Amino acid sequence: MDITTYSSWLEIDLGAIKHNVKEIIKMTNTEVMAVIKANGYGHGVLEVARAVVDAGATWCGVARMEEALNLRNAGIKAQVMVLGYSPAGLIPDAVRNDIHVAIYDLDMAKLYAEQAKKVSGKLKAHLKVETGMGRLGMPSEQVPDFLSEVHNDDVIQIDGIFTHFARADEPQADSAKQQLGKFKLLLTQLRDKGLCPKMVHAANSAAVINTPEAYFDLVRPGIAIYGLDPSPDTRLPESFKPALTWKAQLISVRDFPPGHGISYGSVYVTSKQERIGVIPVGYGDGYRREPGQQVLVRGQLVDVVGRICMDQCMLQLDSVPDAVVGDEVVLLGQQGERTITANDLASRWGTINYEVICGLADRLPRLYKGS
Ligand SMILES: Cc1ncc(COP(=O)(O)O)c(C=O)c1O
Repeated sequence: MDITTYSSWLEIDLGAIKHNVKEIIKMTNTEVMAVIKANGYGHGVLEVARAVVDAGATWCGVARMEEALNLRNAGIKAQVMVLGYSPAGLIPDAVRNDIHVAIYDLDMAKLYAEQAKKVSGKLKAHLKVETGMGRLGMPSEQVPDFLSEVHNDDVIQIDGIFTHFARADEPQADSAKQQLGKFKLLLTQLRDKGLCPKMVHAANSAAVINTPEAYFDLVRPGIAIYGLDPSPDTRLPESFKPALTWKAQLISVRDFPPGHGISYGSVYVTSKQERIGVIPVGYGDGYRREPGQQVLVRGQLVDVVGRICMDQCMLQLDSVPDAVVGDEVVLLGQQGERTITANDLASRWGTINYEVICGLADRLPRLYKGS
């Protein structure tokens, strides 16, 4: 790495992302909608989009219309779907750019139809069904009437029907099975009436691992694409590879005398002569202002000491006396024999690995390999 150019950066292995997509295709034998919302779970959306499509994903799933338009503006040709809410004012853009939207009630469908009429072409939509997630979705009892009402609509074409699991990552709970049972019952009713949309989908990453009965026509993995576990109870198969490493360079190494306060509030005070390093990483980069953190220097875990600032934090370097300015420090990922995983950071921060990677700030340069 060119240390004259970068102080802290993310290295993203697009080869790992492609490999993970191919593993999912092998496991499920279905079409894959790679979920790349929130800047590709922090990995950088356009590079990730190109990689997943190259690996065989036929769909890209995002949360917002702006994210979908960004993909189209960058020339991504795969099917694109907005899984969350789309404001009505952006529906003409969806039609013009062949972007699929989620619909979950009749009023919404009417509003979208009015907007879609302003441009030529049909709005492609997927009906989201509530089966137990308690978030967005049409109650399943209302679905047959809704679909018969919009069946022959001039401007809205219901291409898909989908649901989302609340607890697919808890294999011991039977919540996903119950949701699936409800969804399948509805699909049977719809097929009997000739109302079932052509694409049926339900499986997030956890269901890709735990619930093969939920594969249907398309699976919607997010976290697995990046090589990260859906939860401590639902681990990825070993063949999956994490794609992201977070690095920084050591920008200062100094010996402090005993009794010297380190960082804001002087909550850490040197107890003897101590070697203290600085890395240019702080909560402004998405590192949490929590005590008890560790990073890797020269292949060894060292403690982060004192309060974490917005742009810097300090390291206790006594165990690595050879450390010098310019050394590469790993905050997340592997160095030598040791690894700090997104799960490790998540458990230190009292959160989940999803939040760790989505919280990585835009100002961190993303450097790609394996494209
Ligand atoms: C509707 C929908 N499908 C699929 C996913 C992908 O989930 P995961 O990252 O757990 O695979 C998400 C992410 O939250 C989602 O909201």
